[in-house]
Amino acid sequence: MRILLIASAFNSLTQRVFAELRDRGHHPAVHLVTGDQALREAVRRHAPELIVAPMLKAAVPEDVWSAHTTLIVHPGPLGDRGPSSLDRAIQEGAECWGVTVLQANEVMDGGDVWAHAECPVPPVGKSDLYRNEVSDAASRAVLLAVERFAAGNSSAGPSPSPSPGPGPSDSPSPSDSHTPRPQHGPGWDVPVRTRPYLRQSERRIDWSADPTATVLRKLRAADSQPGVSDELLGERWYLHGGHPEDELCGTPGELLATRAGAVCRATVDGAVWLPELRAGRVPAGVAGVKLPATLALGERLPALPEVPAPLQLPEGRRTWADLDYRELGPVGLLRFSFPGGAMSTMHCRRLLDAYRFACSRPTSVLVLGGGRDFFSNGIHLNVIEAAADPALESWANINAMDDLVAEILTSTDRLVVAALGGNAAAGGAMLALAADEVWCREGVLLNPHYRLMGLYGSEYWTYTLPRRVGRAAAERLTGQALPVTAQSAQRLGLVDRTVAAAPQEFGAEVARLAGLLADRPALAERIAAKKAARERDEAVKPLAAYRTEELAVMHRTFLDPGAPYHALRAAFVRKEPVRGTPEHLEGTR
Ligand code: COA
Repeated sequence: MRILLIASAFNSLTQRVFAELRDRGHHPAVHLVTGDQALREAVRRHAPELIVAPMLKAAVPEDVWSAHTTLIVHPGPLGDRGPSSLDRAIQEGAECWGVTVLQANEVMDGGDVWAHAECPVPPVGKSDLYRNEVSDAASRAVLLAVERFAAGNSSAGPSPSPSPGPGPSDSPSPSDSHTPRPQHGPGWDVPVRTRPYLRQSERRIDWSADPTATVLRKLRAADSQPGVSDELLGERWYLHGGHPEDELCGTPGELLATRAGAVCRATVDGAVWLPELRAGRVPAGVAGVKLPATLALGERLPALPEVPAPLQLPEGRRTWADLDYRELGPVGLLRFSFPGGAMSTMHCRRLLDAYRFACSRPTSVLVLGGGRDFFSNGIHLNVIEAAADPALESWANINAMDDLVAEILTSTDRLVVAALGGNAAAGGAMLALAADEVWCREGVLLNPHYRLMGLYGSEYWTYTLPRRVGRAAAERLTGQALPVTAQSAQRLGLVDRTVAAAPQEFGAEVARLAGLLADRPALAERIAAKKAARERDEAVKPLAAYRTEELAVMHRTFLDPGAPYHALRAAFVRKEPVRGTPEHLEGTR
């Protein structure tokens, strides 16, 4: 089917729907909505059989939805209405949530139901939940709705879909699943709950009264956007991210310690870690973007003890650690998790140190990653933007990234597995390719390209990407700059294994699979073969040569103030609204 995706941004869910539809033989095109007139023109131009809105903040004009079936994805269960569904679900401590696919009509979120799906709500931030559990549920519901629509419009062409059949919670109508079901009708009356936008006044933390559990719910409901507006050290800041701390405590509201860029703040019954801050009123010298907390505070930060988390956290400790190493017999598990998947120079160096430690251990399989949400999205554009000299910081960051990748590529005494529980893009996707095997949770999206940030890229991608997929596919992936599903990536050879696991279960499943891998009798042979292959490749063209060539282009870009990278980066970190639909999304047939 020709499907037009209309969205406020080509965000993770829109990308997921786009890539999943393509995998199923449909022809999706994307229109980023900037106004009603441009939307009407896009609809005329594309003449879609179906319109789907995976993430749309504006109302669809009546002349569009009355002429074309338009499906709206609402991140809430049946009957839920309003613009802050997920925020409210988390803030109120819901344990189960859902996604509903509705047909657009004159009532916001009030249209007929095409499909819906449920999902659990683990204790994570809103964006993490959205990119994982919600994205899985939305993908199920959208594919089912599209399948139903196609079945009711036989002229609409094939809809080969492995999506689950209509179960009780998925089915719009027991009698005719090819038509949507009104929210109110004989035998089916959806209880409607319309809730308003969640304002900062409701998000406010009362440090003198709110227990840690409440503070965490408020922080998670606002993570990663908009953050919780708060006063800190006499100024207004948005607090981003929130993790419990079980040892440190102090006067409620006071800062107690720092750890790897985060600050620890006391609550009435414990403390929480705040990894990132954004200036509420942009003071001089701060870029107004979300930054690691200590960097954002800069000289405002009082003298506080730096309390590093042990790399091997004792069982049962509840604290925040963005790096964590565990061992299960012959398997080493090095988990890392950086907000937004962004890896600053400091993140790269710390991960490299942890990686070296992991390599000093007597294991035969080392798993890198394995956590939930983003694996990596490459160099830290916010930290770069806020640096006194962004060109210099870009250079330091890419070199730190390359040092890490080089270490992985030259680890020839064990098998390294990159385990992606969440999405990866740009240099972060290439980081995964440095491993011997790449495992992705089903539902993961890869964006193995740099073009949209105006970069040539490094991370030895000119070695690893063609090595995996061949030259032609490497050119296509980097040139087209489109997201690919884990399944497509596996077909291409980019990924070795997709793991069917819920986001919360991915880590345990990866550990189990890594154990099986380590037990294979042929493992030693495989490690020896890998070492020999590396030596052969080195003789043909040394790794250093790939790095030099890639970095020569990157260096030119960084040092050229007129290079598009600088403006693209500034627009990205400041979240400038989209001005239109990028050409590469217009049509992909
Ligand atoms: N540096 C800093 N922040 C980054 C980042 C990076 N490299 N990549 C992602 N983020 C942040 C985003 O700003 C966003 O922050 P927010 O939650 O406060 O809004 C968050 O991570 C999630 O990203 P978002 O763009 O909302 O997610 P998405 O799933 O819609 O899109 C990407 C994911 C990776 C396609 C998109 O974030 C992107 O293009 N990132 C830049 C990748 C890149 O060019 N890296 C540099 C070259 S190596």
